[in-house]
Amino acid sequence: MAHGTSGKAGLARIAHMDRIRIVGGNELNGIIPISGAKNAALPLMIASLLTSDTLTLENVPHLADVELLMRILGNHGVDVAVNGRRERQEDGYSRTIHFTCRTIVDTTAPYELVAKMRASFWVIGPLLAREGQARVSLPGGCAIGTRPVDLFIEGLEALGATMEIDGGYINATAPKGGLIGARYVFPKVSVGATHVLMMAATLARGTTVIGNAAREPEVVDLANCLIAMGAKISGAGTSTITIEGVTSLSGARHRVLPDRIETGTYAMAVAMTGGDVTLENTDMALLDTALESLRRAGADVSPTNNGIRIMRNGGGIKPVDVVTDPFPGFPTDLQAQFMALMTRSSGISHITETIFENRFMHVQELARLGAKISLSGQTARIEGVEKLKGAPVMATDLRASVSLVIAGLAAEGETLVSRIYHLDRGFERLEDKLTRCGAIVERISD
Ligand code: EPZ
Repeated sequence: MAHGTSGKAGLARIAHMDRIRIVGGNELNGIIPISGAKNAALPLMIASLLTSDTLTLENVPHLADVELLMRILGNHGVDVAVNGRRERQEDGYSRTIHFTCRTIVDTTAPYELVAKMRASFWVIGPLLAREGQARVSLPGGCAIGTRPVDLFIEGLEALGATMEIDGGYINATAPKGGLIGARYVFPKVSVGATHVLMMAATLARGTTVIGNAAREPEVVDLANCLIAMGAKISGAGTSTITIEGVTSLSGARHRVLPDRIETGTYAMAVAMTGGDVTLENTDMALLDTALESLRRAGADVSPTNNGIRIMRNGGGIKPVDVVTDPFPGFPTDLQAQFMALMTRSSGISHITETIFENRFMHVQELARLGAKISLSGQTARIEGVEKLKGAPVMATDLRASVSLVIAGLAAEGETLVSRIYHLDRGFERLEDKLTRCGAIVERISD
């Protein structure tokens, strides 16, 4: 595995005991380059298991989850080569990475690795499709909910696989001659299960039709990459995806789409602090619903040549109710950030979480900054306060952590966010990007 210098420098930054210190009160003004999407990069990397040729991915963000998945794929036989040079995106770390899996050397994904990152469970689809078998640890629960895998099991069974649970692992076996195309309608929308079934079906015999498929842009990005690799897929981005199986896939070169959650996060940060920021290398169409909620909250949002300009000059933050939903609804991955914004609104707002049952851990931490939030089932009632006051807080998961950063940017005085390894999983160079726009944010290593 050849790592470039930018990779090494970046890796040193991922330290477990680091904290982020924020001194709130400054507006954000300037330009923020948006990185490639973590949640597209992960399934795209996993797709490299489907071919013996090289899959080259451009605009891969430099994140702890990406590094971990490289190691996991390495165990299965994927050779990873990171270009030494940085991408054109001037001050970004996003890189071009080549993934080559000549032969699959191990079809087992062990507990120690799958437990660290749930998405690594998704290797089950390509392993089963290419090798006819996979032994993959069950991921277990996680901070935001129980997150079962029943939809993966049912979907792969529909393609003819035998799925047995044994000692915390799923032993998946394809019928002789490989998986068989079928029609399967998901009883519930799942991004991960859609990725997996789509990948598995590319090498199945015959045609697969996936009903009630996830419509997230990351599903479309994966489908486009698979198509470039020779897969026959239509309908990605709608709720019915049709895949005509082929006998083998080739290599391809594909650019990871912009991170819509990172885009929305910075847009919410600007709406929170006030100011004028251009988010570059991104696309409004990726997050219509969230941007519409921001407009209703009082932010000006407009398209630029290759991104989005977001402003809030004067004028307060208005209360807006949101309900999370699968795409194109309001994303669950922006729920915590929007709640941070609503803590400063001029009235009462409600946020309902419909995707994960335990995704409100930021509520207690926001309360430490002076937010007034009460919970009733899956709905939070947020009574806007005139000011937040800095305090030590603790990150609990990736998106919850960044909501604390957003709140800290608008709070009076100093906010210290601990356990920020969560942030390093999903936000590339967060403190740099904010500092360049006038925020006082620094990483403190103990
Ligand atoms: C993806 O997770 C994202 N992760 C999540 O982002 C995101 O929150 C989520 O989609 C929803 O948008 C990645 O892309 C790596 P799901 P995923 O399967 O695929 C239930 C982040 O912060 N379900 O669409 O795991 C599940 O419990 C992360 O970047 C079953 O019941 O989510 C949930 O309630 C967090 N059975 C709902 O479906 C199953 O077999 C949607 O989950 C599978 C899922």
